[in-house]
Amino acid sequence: MNIETIRNDFPVLKKDVIYLDSSCVSLKPKQVVEAMNKYYYEFPACAGRSIHGFGSKVSGEITAARKNLANFFSTKPNEIIFTRNATEGINLVANSLGLKSGDKVLTSDKEHNSNLLPWQNLTKEGILHQVVLSNQDNTFNLAEFEKQIEGTRLVSIVHTSNLDGVSFPVEKIIKIAHRNGALVLLDCAQSAPHKELNMRKLDADFMVCSGHKMLGPSGIGALYGKAKLLDQLQPFLLGGSTVRDATYTSAEFEGAPAKFEAGLQNYAGIIGFSEAVTYLRNIGMKKIQHHEQELNKQLTDELLNLEAISLIGPAGPSQRAGIFSFNIKDKDPHEVALMLDQSAKIMVRSGAHCVHSWFNARNLKGSVRASLYLYNTEEECTTFIDAVKAIATL
Ligand SMILES: Cc1ncc(COP(=O)(O)O)c(C=O)c1O
Repeated sequence: MNIETIRNDFPVLKKDVIYLDSSCVSLKPKQVVEAMNKYYYEFPACAGRSIHGFGSKVSGEITAARKNLANFFSTKPNEIIFTRNATEGINLVANSLGLKSGDKVLTSDKEHNSNLLPWQNLTKEGILHQVVLSNQDNTFNLAEFEKQIEGTRLVSIVHTSNLDGVSFPVEKIIKIAHRNGALVLLDCAQSAPHKELNMRKLDADFMVCSGHKMLGPSGIGALYGKAKLLDQLQPFLLGGSTVRDATYTSAEFEGAPAKFEAGLQNYAGIIGFSEAVTYLRNIGMKKIQHHEQELNKQLTDELLNLEAISLIGPAGPSQRAGIFSFNIKDKDPHEVALMLDQSAKIMVRSGAHCVHSWFNARNLKGSVRASLYLYNTEEECTTFIDAVKAIATL
């Protein structure tokens, strides 16, 4: 992996900043921006409706993008639904699955609000929402999960946590869930950008991800669902493109994915998302993962032994993907983030990272989170380490 060549693809890096906030939003390579511009400059029309030249060009591009995403996740095009983001995908499943009063949904105690609130909301209709508590070191407690799985209709669980980078053993979780008759929805917002995901092998029933965390534009994401399940799901949003035909009193719905993609879509976003996964595939997910782990090892080796630093998650960097989430004794996380920005142009995330429930349960305000991606370098990590050390001794 040639980092210098990669960095040249990201014009914003010329601004001389150290961007360690890719778990929130990744930077975009010029290939993605150019592919989106091409749509607006050359064929800015609607897919699947108008049959003129621009219309058929954009229809072809969207079909190709769906196929590309399907290949990226080792699945079929009709199993990929374009959404605004991971959040919308989870809400779609929550509202379309036909959950009934008394049905049980299991999540972990480390879910992003996007995979917590949709289930919490359904409790108003009698759905039971239960949380599986993690081990002390924030890893998944399989024994607890096995105790709670009985009678579950759906397990909706994060693959890689945005809180600490820990990945849950989803292969085992899926096998146990299926053995007990439960469906599984994987929140891959943080794993899809960094790991190879093979939907066929994993056998997950549903999966969601966001383009903006995987070098793509914002406002576009994907929901994967097994074809036979998508057939059974009711559409969530209704409108143009979801029906074959309609009268004043009835409608005949399309099959998936069309029945879930109501209204004119974010075509530039879909095209940019497809370009982003092509970029990731060309570099290679294994190489990206290895690079991030090397950098995280550097951060961990240098910072974990400082007395003032407390880490969130297990000590081993290989267990935390590209995330180093920490606190400095007696310092507010936002104050630390501001100091890093002002002293060394280092951009990190601070606060509860939309996992308020986890922090509230521990009476903590939040943490400082450095998150790494393919364009980060050893030198940037050295600058970060020096800046954190300086703040820790203030
Ligand atoms: C683990 C996880 N799940 C879900 C989301 C929600 O993603 P989005 O806001 O793109 O829908 C995020 C975003 O940070 C996340 O980290």
